[in-house]
Amino acid sequence: MTDLLLLPGDGIGPEVTAQVRRVAEKLTPDLSIEERLFGGCSYDAHGVPLTDETLAAAKAAKAVLMGAVGGPKWVDAPRDKRPEAGLLNLRAGMGVFANLRPALCFQPLADASSLKRELVEGLDFMIVRELTGGIYFGSPRFIEDLPGGGQRAVDTQVYTTAEIERVARVAFELARGRRNKVHSAEKSNVMDSGLLWRRVVTALHSREYPDVELEHILADNAAMQIVKNPKQFDVMVTDNLFGDILSDAAAQLTGSLGMLPSAALGLPGTPGLYEPIHGSAPDIAGQGVANPLAAILSFEMALRWSLDRPAEADRLFAAVEKALENGARTRDLGGALSTAQMGDAVLAAL
Ligand code: IPM
Ligand code: MG
Repeated sequence: MTDLLLLPGDGIGPEVTAQVRRVAEKLTPDLSIEERLFGGCSYDAHGVPLTDETLAAAKAAKAVLMGAVGGPKWVDAPRDKRPEAGLLNLRAGMGVFANLRPALCFQPLADASSLKRELVEGLDFMIVRELTGGIYFGSPRFIEDLPGGGQRAVDTQVYTTAEIERVARVAFELARGRRNKVHSAEKSNVMDSGLLWRRVVTALHSREYPDVELEHILADNAAMQIVKNPKQFDVMVTDNLFGDILSDAAAQLTGSLGMLPSAALGLPGTPGLYEPIHGSAPDIAGQGVANPLAAILSFEMALRWSLDRPAEADRLFAAVEKALENGARTRDLGGALSTAQMGDAVLAAL
């Protein structure tokens, strides 16, 4: 059985996952690693962004780590064959419904944020984004021609009690191991799915997690509070679309999108999907200047959440911190190190 399936993907994906491989070979040499095409490169080779074989390999591995998918080359591919569709199919196929997106400000990077230092110094909050439901997957969805000219487009936001409950449970459990506070973000003032979301979270809270502090927050207000006073947050649970948006905002607080990992988890005992949240960055792809730390920290999360190697995860986290303390900076952090040199800095700190 493969321990770690690597899906380097497109754009800067292969560059940053190459550094993960180097780190893994040093830190956990006994880990078995397999690599496969995924995203646009899979579409080019096989006509689909995610083959059945690759999905089967993902489900059979202990953890899956992907780089990034997509890019300008594939914008005109049919919607269901686009790299992003492959990613959604991978998430759904693996059943990874809870997406943990930490917004963590490393001390040496507090000045790299676009917010004032005092707002972000010591920041450590976690967004738990629902990942396999909501408007990303709801049906019907279509664009149709209107008889009088013009078109009409429909997407559907849909959530069930069970879907809300299982992701909220992940948030409450996480909070118990942190600062014990959950914010649940929705638009219950406008959307029925938001209303159900609020009711289900409230009921679960009083039934199973009365010891955890729970606050409901409207998603627009959450966006404002994230840039106004982000340190008030510990864990924020929200739906797929709001989570996509709010997690980008939260990411920028930490200085660079190039720093942030994520973990997508399913039911206990199933493999997790780990990915840097920065995307394929076609503008700098192939230049060897991308920051590999988000990918390396995604590996750190994989060690912790799927591979049962918390000691190695701790060592890797400390090594990343050390490298930053020593002044290692890629271009996105205001420095001049290449992707491989940042990898060297982490390896040296290990
Ligand atoms: C993310 C990305 C993806 C999403 C895209 C690439 C499909 O923005 O992981 O946040 O919208 O979920
Ligand atoms: Mg996104």
